[in-house]
Amino acid sequence: MLELAPSILSADFARLGEEAQAALEGGTTLLHVDVMDGHFVPNITIGPPVVKSLRSATDATLDVHLMIEDPDQYIPAFVEAGADWISVHQEACIHLHRTIELIRSLGAKPGVVINPATPVHTLDEVLEIVHLVLVMSVNPGFGGQKFIPAALDKVRKLGTMRTVKGADFRIEIDGGVSLDNIGEVVRAGAEIVVAGNAVFGSGDPRKNVATLLRTAKEAMFQKV
Ligand code: DX5
Ligand code: ZN
Repeated sequence: MLELAPSILSADFARLGEEAQAALEGGTTLLHVDVMDGHFVPNITIGPPVVKSLRSATDATLDVHLMIEDPDQYIPAFVEAGADWISVHQEACIHLHRTIELIRSLGAKPGVVINPATPVHTLDEVLEIVHLVLVMSVNPGFGGQKFIPAALDKVRKLGTMRTVKGADFRIEIDGGVSLDNIGEVVRAGAEIVVAGNAVFGSGDPRKNVATLLRTAKEAMFQKV
């Protein structure tokens, strides 16, 4: 199943509830929430209070992407605030297996994320215990960056690894997705597609989500 995850990073934070609602009305039940700490990435965004506010404003699945150092310290607060899925960076977790188990033990669905410079084989030992693998198609830290095409090959590799292992994680991609490349992205095998700038950058988020989804679905059924 293909899903679009609008990233609220590019929304107008002064009207966050409205913007989130508009994106959801475009035809999705997911919201991607980018958490940055100014250490793991060179930018600072939001924390548990904003997740809590979103939680009370919507029933959407909150897909929380932690771009922070020492995520174990903050995971309980994000679960408490209402995060449904919590993804941590492979590069930020020394004891990745433990961190994934922590997320699961608190009742959220665990995901693992890899930066553009991190090979997929570094995830070999955790593919069977995660709900999702998120492939970064930009270096994390900012919305509106240019898509890095090498991410497509990582998505394809993950699809093969999943079949070989008989695992059932979902494959998500994040960064630089637009109407121009969403077709390629889903044909490579991405099942959850994050889009920030393409949803909230200009125009109506409802229409933007609907158009992205329609374009992606058409591409999936196109013969190549
Ligand atoms: C980047 C974030 C992304 C970002 C995507 O660090 O993880 O989720 O918001 O935004 P666009 O779609 O604008 O690249
Ligand atoms: Zn993200």
